[in-house]
Amino acid sequence: MVERKRIGVLTSGGDCAGLNALLRAVVLRAADYGWQVFGIEQGTLGLMESPPRAQLLEASAFDGSILRRGGTILGTTNTGDPFAFPQLDGDPIDRSEEVIAGYNALGLDALIGIGGDGSLAILNRLAKQGGINFVGVPKTIDNDIGVTEVSVGYDTAVAIATEALDRLQPTAASHRRVMILEVMGRDAGHIALNAGIAGGADVILVPEIPYRIEHIVRKIRSLNEMGRDFALVVVAEAVPNESGNRIVQKYAGGQSRYGGVGHFLGERLAETTHAEVRVTVLGHVQRGAAPNSRDRLMASVFGVHAVDLIEQGRFGRMVAWQDRHVVDFDIDAAVAAPAVVDINGPIVRTARGLGICLGDQ
Ligand code: F6P
Repeated sequence: MVERKRIGVLTSGGDCAGLNALLRAVVLRAADYGWQVFGIEQGTLGLMESPPRAQLLEASAFDGSILRRGGTILGTTNTGDPFAFPQLDGDPIDRSEEVIAGYNALGLDALIGIGGDGSLAILNRLAKQGGINFVGVPKTIDNDIGVTEVSVGYDTAVAIATEALDRLQPTAASHRRVMILEVMGRDAGHIALNAGIAGGADVILVPEIPYRIEHIVRKIRSLNEMGRDFALVVVAEAVPNESGNRIVQKYAGGQSRYGGVGHFLGERLAETTHAEVRVTVLGHVQRGAAPNSRDRLMASVFGVHAVDLIEQGRFGRMVAWQDRHVVDFDIDAAVAAPAVVDINGPIVRTARGLGICLGDQ
């Protein structure tokens, strides 16, 4: 008799476009094997509760509508590390055993975790501690997970940032302004660089390339000399100020996130160029959207492969995309080295070839 497995799936870390398409792929592939899929709510928070918060995901509920939807129908969290779980008052505590107990209470044979590098490292650690059969799937708008060329959610985020530049360009030209667009990406400049090229930016600043204000000013002046009286500048959120400090915003509960470099740059450029400068901070707009076709495709490829790994009994793996193929790697190795912008790579070379100022010359 064919074994009817029970597998769990959860989304963890910041949401992005394509997560529901990924859940759909997992459910449809598992149904192909005759297995049951339990969707765990709010990442590991759902497993910490007793009884665990999980819902049976029936293939019949996953018609075509779900793959178009942004966000995650399961919910997620990026603030609930079970090994250092935040307390309202007092030091964080270790709640990892509660998560493992939740997994066991559901009687699961395997778990698929959809996350960024931080979430995947935590889930892998939990899996080792609790003997959980774990498979990881990479998602993040930042596209900073090593070994995979692309993570689910990245392509849509780049498309949104590009569209923002499409909308900023006519208003910049009409008012003869310098328009600055601050984009997300955490410590990697992939969104800024790729959207900047696609959206016709004149200046792109990424955390991987140190910049000097005078180089940006010179670029804006040279545009003026060529008869152009507006400019588009894209800056990644982790680009530091001139003293080398990254600018963060503080939130309740002691959290801090990158944010504010666009306004810093705006003030400096207004002072030095005497141009009218305006700043747009794109923020979470980059995460909340219907996934584009590339993200729907990657989500589908990764979801099917993740279930196939379980069928083959291959655990502790992260699915990945390389050289037009879906592959898989040991999770520890996959998340060990984040993938930042290659400053000697083809995309940076392309930007320079187009005359885009990257702030270093
Ligand atoms: O990692 C995804 C990401 O959107 C980053 O680009 C950004 O720095 C961070 O998450 C924002 O986190 P939060 O959703 O907690 O504000």
